[in-house]
Amino acid sequence: MAMKIKIADKKNFLNQKKIRFLITCSLMVKSRPTILAIESSCDETSASVIQAGKVLNNVIASQEVHSKHGGVVPELASRAHQQNIWRVVNDAMTQSGIKKEELNAIAFTRVLGLMGTLLVGVFFAKGMALALGIPMIEVNHMEAHVLAHFIDEPRPQFPFLCLTVSGGHTQIILVKNFLEMQVIGQTQDDAVGEAFDKAAKMMGLPYPGGPLIDKYAKLGNANAFKFSQTSMPGLDFSFSGIKTAFLYFLRDKKKENENFVDKNLNDICASLQRHLVQMLLQKLKLAAQQTGIKEIAIAGGVAANSGLRNALTDLAKELNWRIFIPEFQYCTDNAAMIAMVAHYKFLDEKFCGMDVAPVPNLAVGE
Ligand code: KG4
Ligand code: ZN
Repeated sequence: MAMKIKIADKKNFLNQKKIRFLITCSLMVKSRPTILAIESSCDETSASVIQAGKVLNNVIASQEVHSKHGGVVPELASRAHQQNIWRVVNDAMTQSGIKKEELNAIAFTRVLGLMGTLLVGVFFAKGMALALGIPMIEVNHMEAHVLAHFIDEPRPQFPFLCLTVSGGHTQIILVKNFLEMQVIGQTQDDAVGEAFDKAAKMMGLPYPGGPLIDKYAKLGNANAFKFSQTSMPGLDFSFSGIKTAFLYFLRDKKKENENFVDKNLNDICASLQRHLVQMLLQKLKLAAQQTGIKEIAIAGGVAANSGLRNALTDLAKELNWRIFIPEFQYCTDNAAMIAMVAHYKFLDEKFCGMDVAPVPNLAVGE
């Protein structure tokens, strides 16, 4: 009898040890999750693995197929994502050295982008989450651009302002916390990236024209040509006026000299870039004045623009701002930023169900 009690005690002790070990493991997972993130909102297929809030990699497959069409062709983009996604996810997993059984969640871009391309990411995530029996985390693309600032040091302190400038959006966001953001100003028509790309197209440059304008602008005189200002009330922007003004400017100049663009490409790019950058910074300055915030960040594809980066650096010295400019790879679309949002959502246990569907248009914070 005494012997039996001893065995039962030992069993109890072992069970308790096992339970304590499982609780410790689950607490560790809760605070140090390993997540695979997928981005497929537009023309970049990307995957990233994040562990305990540290981004381990950022694999990106860009789609060259759109350059000859002068813009992203949604059908072609969806097809390219379908072809790339398996390889990109596989590369991210292999490079990270993490087995898929070790993943605690799968994250994907749900909000904002092209319906067909988002669907590719959403369905891939659903398939993997189902197969592995782990939860899914949905991510808003614009919130992810903002949290790109938490991938590396130095990190901004809350609250900070983020000028988020991409091919589809131009917003000034008041960032109160990791997942608490408020849009305080935004474009009422075109995005600034669109203005760059459309102006480039008018000059006969391939898509995406933004980086090319940046490249030629470095060699030109930014005061060579002047464009009229469109004024918008408060912190909002408008870029459709400059697009039309630029179209008429080129038409008139070409009447005088049909080789005008070829002969003046660098100066045109430098002048246009300066104009667009000034439009952005004028409103950012106003937002900083109104909120009294001096922690200022920029994010999104256009944050890669050297004219914007330089002008912001100068303005920061003048106004005593602490500025945050992401590394180039984290400006344009990437899965590392999706992974960053996913990390904080995991800590808050914000998971989504299997019935989730993409939302091509929705403002940040909604
Ligand atoms: O964030 P992103 O990669 O995709 C969207 O979410 O839209 O941004 C793409 C946009 C394009 O309009 C592209 O021309 C622009 O960012 N872009 C640039 C530069 N690099 C990318 N615009 C100006 N200068 C650059 N260096
Ligand atoms: Zn983007």
